[in-house]
Amino acid sequence: MNALTASQPGNQTGGIHCGSLHARLRQTTADLHRRSEAVLDLPTKLTDLAGYVSLLDVLWRFHAGYERALRHAHLAAEFQSLCLCKADWIAEDLCYLGCAPRGDPIDVALDGRLDALGSLYVIEGSMLGGRYIGKRAAQALGVSPWRGARFFHGYGELARSMWKEFVCDLNSVPATGSPADRVEASSCRAFQAFIGSASR
Ligand code: HEM
Repeated sequence: MNALTASQPGNQTGGIHCGSLHARLRQTTADLHRRSEAVLDLPTKLTDLAGYVSLLDVLWRFHAGYERALRHAHLAAEFQSLCLCKADWIAEDLCYLGCAPRGDPIDVALDGRLDALGSLYVIEGSMLGGRYIGKRAAQALGVSPWRGARFFHGYGELARSMWKEFVCDLNSVPATGSPADRVEASSCRAFQAFIGSASR
């Protein structure tokens, strides 16, 4: 069982309702989530600081690419809690470790609100797992939110409420029909973009 399925048994937990678009995405992207976890290969990445830096590089390329596309799409008014600061948090962590981001942001094309919603599902959802990764990194390498792990701290105490707010936005789209298909396709593209970039 992967970390995601292990943490949330059943199909109605913490405000997640069966039959919602959220429930649909969670189910249809479960395999992509498993593949993302596998490609990140945490045991290797958390062996030493060099591995940890390469983990941050992978995450920076992904978030910087999506944040650039979200900025270009001028979607701030559509999402009240849109936070385009994750690439900066990662750059801050790399700087603390004496490094700068390596590689280029991934190329992302977003066409409108539904595309953005699908990709934000992956981006914001990944922050939940990030808290878990942060704890493992702290145990293995001694990093902390102030010392190289600002990104994994994410929204801190606000993490659950931010996620609930986002899930409300997501569930404002009915779970079936072409808008929902569009959101789902965009989520799958975001996971695939992550897997592709992390595999290189
Ligand atoms: C080793 C790497 C990873 C681990 C261990 C992990 C772990 C987790 C865990 C434990 C959760 C549930 C957290 C909770 O509800 O409190 C979660 C949720 C999620 N993660 Fe990951 N994750 C990893 C990587 C990723 C990556 C790379 C992405 C995206 C590119 C991602 C996307 C998501 C999404 C979208 C959710 C929300 C699922 C939902 O409830 O709808 N995760 N992850």
